Amino acid sequence: MNTPPLRHLIANALTLLLAASGAALAQSEPTALVDQQHCMFCHTRDAPFLAPSFQQIADRYRGVPNARVMLEHKLRLGGKAHWGDIAMPLPADRGGPLTPEDAHTLIQWVLSQ
Ligand code: HEC
Repeated sequence: MNTPPLRHLIANALTLLLAASGAALAQSEPTALVDQQHCMFCHTRDAPFLAPSFQQIADRYRGVPNARVMLEHKLRLGGKAHWGDIAMPLPADRGGPLTPEDAHTLIQWVLSQ
């Protein structure tokens, strides 16, 4: 009898699961939220249009400490414009209120572009 202890097997399985779901979170588009908030009405992934592209935004904030927190806050509550004179409309004008969790999901996705 030389089976590995059960708790090692469970720990390994959990690590794999977490790694897999973390990778999926960082890359896949939260489509329902994006549709509900009409993000793609003004933004595209890679071409500036009515608003900076998500790739430009990700580039600008790569390596900026606390950028994620600032952007989540701004996405929910607004703030001053960083790219020109036009500020982004508030959630209520984009399709409905946005919870902190939803803002987190969206910004995580934008910054992974
Ligand atoms: C009606 C048009 C419009 C919609 C809809 C919209 N945006 Fe924007 N967004 C803008 C504009 C304009 C800016 C540039 C504002 C600025 O200068 O900070 C911007 C800026 C941003 C920024 C960068 C903010 C900064 O401070 O640098 C992020 C991140 C962002 N948008 C994410 C989103 C997400 C995610 C959604 C959907 C939930 C969304 N936007 C929906 C127009 C829009």
